[in-house]
Amino acid sequence: MTEQLIDDFGRRVNYVRLSVTDRCDFRCVYCMSEEMTFLPRAQVLTLEEMGMIARAFTEMGVEKIRLTGGEPLVRRGIEQLVDEIGSLPGLNDFTMTTNGASLRKHAKRLRDGGMKRLNISLDSLDPERFKQLTRTGDLNKVIDGLRAAQEAGFERIKLNAVILKGRNDDEVLDLVAFARREGVDISFIEEMPLGDVSDHSRDETYCSSDEVQALIEHRYPLVPTTETTAGPSRYFRMADSASRIGFISPHSHNFCSSCNRVRVTVEGRLLLCLGNEHSVDLRAVLRRYPGDMPALKDAIRKALPLKPERHHFTTDGDVQVVRFMNMTGG
Ligand code: GTP
Ligand code: 5AD
Ligand code: SF4
Repeated sequence: MTEQLIDDFGRRVNYVRLSVTDRCDFRCVYCMSEEMTFLPRAQVLTLEEMGMIARAFTEMGVEKIRLTGGEPLVRRGIEQLVDEIGSLPGLNDFTMTTNGASLRKHAKRLRDGGMKRLNISLDSLDPERFKQLTRTGDLNKVIDGLRAAQEAGFERIKLNAVILKGRNDDEVLDLVAFARREGVDISFIEEMPLGDVSDHSRDETYCSSDEVQALIEHRYPLVPTTETTAGPSRYFRMADSASRIGFISPHSHNFCSSCNRVRVTVEGRLLLCLGNEHSVDLRAVLRRYPGDMPALKDAIRKALPLKPERHHFTTDGDVQVVRFMNMTGG
């Protein structure tokens, strides 16, 4: 029987978020500071190291792997890693979260490599505002990237919108209408306090999922569904559309009791929770015992008891985790 990773609170870990780069061609205001510096290459896991970590996890019962970043598509050689992970036995969900800007170039290759789903960040449909929120992003490229993903035949695409009061909360209905037109899902996310992003004061921009939901329900009655993507989203359906509306509410509807995931940062830190610092250095193991699968698995097994019961994010504007989101894998 396949091994299972079960933590001290009885939660089974079957979802790994693997950050493949801290770099990004955008500088989203809730994710990065403007003058971000990136890690030197020696500190970043090689693609071979990432492949080995993915294999170790799937052999220990992990069924879902998501590639994140930074922006995963700026990592050179990503196609090779996608092919490698896509062919691992035991995976039933292999996917990526991307800013979408270079999907025109990559979408088909990702689909051919075994990805069936894709999450694309999209916080505004207004080009000027999109530029303000992403600092460097071009909305047209992202829309074109979405189209490329649709043409490539992804079975499900989900948009992610982080809603900030006074910045894009007036676009919630437009975003829903867009998702309906495009036949894709959309999740609305409460901003999390990772890293000092300095662009805005997080206590002033906090917008709860309940507020977003109320805005949507004025126009589209929402019916809760038990459908899940084995992530933190709570999904709802509308009567007349195939699109699902999701809410990711780390502040207002804590989902830690059903947490099934761990992260591997781009430096190879196995991070047991987004909102805590408990971690184990897998890079050290990989570089000390190159190619030694039992040693790697042992390190993963020993890390599990470090998984905390929950995160303790608050909305008072304090930075609770110094590390930035792009280092962490979203
Ligand atoms: P699906 O597989 O489609 O359900 O995706 P997902 O929601 O798991 O992943 P995605 O990369 O789209 O993440 C959407 C948002 O959920 C991001 O803001 C993530 O930081 C957040 N998120 C994902 N997992 C966790 C978690 O364990 N804890 C917290 N606090 N946030 C999470
Ligand atoms: N809070 C909530 N979501 C965030 N993301 C990035 N930074 C934050 C944050 N501080 C989201 C991005 C992307 C996903 C990986 O994480 O919008 O969709
Ligand atoms: Fe880049 Fe994603 Fe962070 Fe935006 S949220 S800066 S697209 S890593």
